[in-house]
Amino acid sequence: MNEKQRLESQQTIKADTVASKPEKDYSKYFQSVYTPPSLKDAKKRGKEEVEYHKDFEIPEQFQGLGKGRKYYIRTYGCQMNEHDTEVMAGIFMELGYEAVDSVDEADVVLLNTCAIRENAENKVFGELGHLKPLKLERPDLLIGVCGCMSQEESVVNRILEKHQFVDMIFGTHNIHRLPQILNEAYMSKEMVVEVWSKEGDVIENLPKVRRGNIKAWVNIMYGCDKFCTYCIVPYTRGKERSRRPEDIVQEVRQLAAHGYKEVTLLGQNVNAYGKDFEDIDFTLGDLMEELSKIDIPRIRFTTSHPRDFDDRLIEVLAKQGNLVDHIHLPVQSGSSDILKIMARKYSREHYLELVRKIKAAIPNVTLTTDIIVGFPNETDEQFEETMTLYKEVGFETAYTFIYSPREGTPAARMKDNVSMEVKKARLQRLNDLVNEMAREAMEKYEGQVVEVLVEGESKNNPDVLAGYTRKNKLVNFKGPKSIIGQLVNVKIINAKTWSLDGEMIEIDEQVEVV
Ligand code: SAH
Ligand code: SF4
Ligand code: F3S
Repeated sequence: MNEKQRLESQQTIKADTVASKPEKDYSKYFQSVYTPPSLKDAKKRGKEEVEYHKDFEIPEQFQGLGKGRKYYIRTYGCQMNEHDTEVMAGIFMELGYEAVDSVDEADVVLLNTCAIRENAENKVFGELGHLKPLKLERPDLLIGVCGCMSQEESVVNRILEKHQFVDMIFGTHNIHRLPQILNEAYMSKEMVVEVWSKEGDVIENLPKVRRGNIKAWVNIMYGCDKFCTYCIVPYTRGKERSRRPEDIVQEVRQLAAHGYKEVTLLGQNVNAYGKDFEDIDFTLGDLMEELSKIDIPRIRFTTSHPRDFDDRLIEVLAKQGNLVDHIHLPVQSGSSDILKIMARKYSREHYLELVRKIKAAIPNVTLTTDIIVGFPNETDEQFEETMTLYKEVGFETAYTFIYSPREGTPAARMKDNVSMEVKKARLQRLNDLVNEMAREAMEKYEGQVVEVLVEGESKNNPDVLAGYTRKNKLVNFKGPKSIIGQLVNVKIINAKTWSLDGEMIEIDEQVEVV
């Protein structure tokens, strides 16, 4: 489908959707593009093949659109969003816009939003509240909402009703249409809404302005088909679709050639990589093996789902080299019953067996995880199972969350007999355990020498440099600014819960570096 056909088909959706919802007819707000999202449509997994477009370019009529104009993007949410922001920054740059660091200096402000929990959404609505007076003061300022919240009908409706000063809303599948959307917003006095409920294709060769020149994110796949019952992501990011191996390998090679030292491969469930290919049999393990041949010091991936973590991947990771020995493996709960209602499709026993296999193959591996407490009707015993699993695996740290109901997901319809007070108490107990075990893991480093990728000055003290180890531990130490961007050896003197203090050293071959 070419761009013109696609737009025409989007226009058809527009007419249908508006017609089928007469009670909420927002069409009076629009004369121009209006394609609203639908969670019901987003749930349908399209059978049609994903098309790969390699020919992205800024249409001629929009070149120079940003001349003399400035943009600012505020990013919420996960690395996927951070990376989408880099792509949008690339498009802004090609349009001739200049980047600025604050809303006050900008002519265009984009909020790249996250829908994962209610508090993520509240932050965005709070920010919209702050932007309103600015828009009243400077009517020419363009304000846009994009990212995962834009894919939700309820959010778009709320913006339409209560935040009419917003100029554009667009979703996660059409960020490559930023030039058209901006142009439309300049031309029209009405709000421009273009959100595609069905996933887009894979668009290659999008321009990017990466944050920094030391570490880079590389998408390997988009979307998620797992439909965990609590999660909004499959609705906001569409079906699983993988980038072709040759495109990923080429991107990582280019990053290596430009001197990048670390790459993080991105996907909501990277272990499903390649499952959608019909012409080749190529999995994440195969991809990691290819990437391990590239001359770049560190390669990571996030996030992996335990269900698709196969033996081939473990075998490849065990060779290590530039594949780091840190695996983030979200477990969500230690109770098989809760895991079942979450539709995670593995049990406590399966998870522990996977951990056993990983540890057998990579004895020095560091495991970290994500946990949700207070899932509907979680009992005290089920919560205790999460605590015991945490200890049994020996996680070094975790992101922990109180369950947040997301409209349109199956779990949001479940009755819940657990009070917020109980949920908060459980989170506190879990966090105490997480902190205690994080500290224990850090203390083991005292006296050891670690390899640190130096990223810059410490946020808290400009006289100190900061960087991360292969296992993603933050290290602070004194050294010359000239080593920023390099890998150096640091002897750890003092361990704290979330960081290590050390001294830079020259080493001889006798010393083991971890
Ligand atoms: N794809 C990743 C997770 C991405 S979302 C995976 O499956 O592992 C990041 C984390 O947010 C999840 O691991 C989960 O712990 C948390 N999360 C997702 N939906 C949530 C919800 N409705 N309430 C609370 N936490 C949630
Ligand atoms: Fe959400 Fe589950 Fe997909 Fe992760 S695997 S993004 S938790 S649905
Ligand atoms: Fe949030 Fe969307 Fe990422 S919901 S966590 S920004 S995929």
